[in-house]
Amino acid sequence: MKTILLIHGPNLNLLGKRDPLHYGSLTLGKLENIVKRKAKINNFIIKSFQSNHEGALIDFIQKNSPKADGVIINAGALTHYSYALHDALMDAKLPAIEVHLSNIKDRENWRNKSVIKKVCLLAISGKKEKGYLEAVEVLRKYLNSNKPPMINMVIGNPIKQSKSPLLHGEIYKFLKLDAVTLPVSNSNVRKLVSKIKKESIGLAAVTMPFKKTVIPFLDSVDAIAKKINSVNTIINKNGKLFGYNTDVDGVQYALRNVKLKNKKVLLLGAGGAGRTVAAVIREQGGRLIYLNRKEEESIQMKKNFGGQSMKEQKLSAQDIDVVINATPVGMFPLTTSLSVPSKLISRHQTVFDLVYNPEATRLLKVSKSRGAKVISGIDMFIVQGIRQIELWTNKKIIDPKLVYQLKKLIIKG
Ligand code: DQA
Repeated sequence: MKTILLIHGPNLNLLGKRDPLHYGSLTLGKLENIVKRKAKINNFIIKSFQSNHEGALIDFIQKNSPKADGVIINAGALTHYSYALHDALMDAKLPAIEVHLSNIKDRENWRNKSVIKKVCLLAISGKKEKGYLEAVEVLRKYLNSNKPPMINMVIGNPIKQSKSPLLHGEIYKFLKLDAVTLPVSNSNVRKLVSKIKKESIGLAAVTMPFKKTVIPFLDSVDAIAKKINSVNTIINKNGKLFGYNTDVDGVQYALRNVKLKNKKVLLLGAGGAGRTVAAVIREQGGRLIYLNRKEEESIQMKKNFGGQSMKEQKLSAQDIDVVINATPVGMFPLTTSLSVPSKLISRHQTVFDLVYNPEATRLLKVSKSRGAKVISGIDMFIVQGIRQIELWTNKKIIDPKLVYQLKKLIIKG
């Protein structure tokens, strides 16, 4: 059993009542129970302490650090100015994780600065209780290998819905790699990119809405990502950032058993995902038909990837062999929405929905009930993630059995 000191600074005794918008609604007791439960699974004993007094916190660290293995600390406002706490943590010589419930970078300027950060392995902020659970996970990895796990990131805004940390985590386990992928959010993409450089992050997965806007900040972008104008993977090679698009690999994998040559493919969506699908269909000789809410979007798609745009009234199911939804319609929590007009779905078709949460979307359920062949977005999601880690590790990992195993884990988790 290893002992982790869980330390809470001034005013955190008021959690639950205090500024719930920033700090959430959990009381300190409830928060600690959640952390303790997770810690127990990892064979950690949590020794917790809260005080409003700087000296009391230092006394606690001095007294308990000789018998402890790690520290998780939310020093409250002391974070921003207590050099005494900085020294106490430094002298404790323990791996320490700094945690904040709120995102201290998105608040008043004076909260931006942390003087204890230098003596901590990592700072996690803005994830409420989840940040503490991540801290336990990082300490588990650190203490098991005695060196810090490699930290990767997934960047987006919002980021809560992303399953990339889970997927990457499972792939790391499979590869026996000591790494974690942390979700990081900020409305400013430039700040996210400078974090990747500053913290020497090896791999950053990029999700909505930054797949396009991140491009100008990169040192180099590969040809296909440039063509699609969408980057979902950043690899940091000695401080230079390289952009890739592994969604392409995901789409190719999902459609690997579908003959596309000369097939009429109805495509909904003209964002990063839509452009990715269009590139794959074009490469494989399919005939693209666009149905977009905005006329300009279809015009742009035709310009980049060929094909034709059609009005819904003029289309019938007989004109379509393959239906692909690359819009977010039908995604959790709005799962009852149907992304494709019902009259366009028929039994002779293959229907592919890029939405992976839920696995069986309304579109796929309707298509299946009509006898069409259906493909869920989950395979694509898994393969784009595997490819990201292949690019980062420079190793070939992909294997259908692994995809199948990961699928079960992701659906469950
Ligand atoms: C805090 C952020 C600090 O700026 C503030 O003084 C706190 C809580 C957080 O968890 O978000 O007390 O550490």
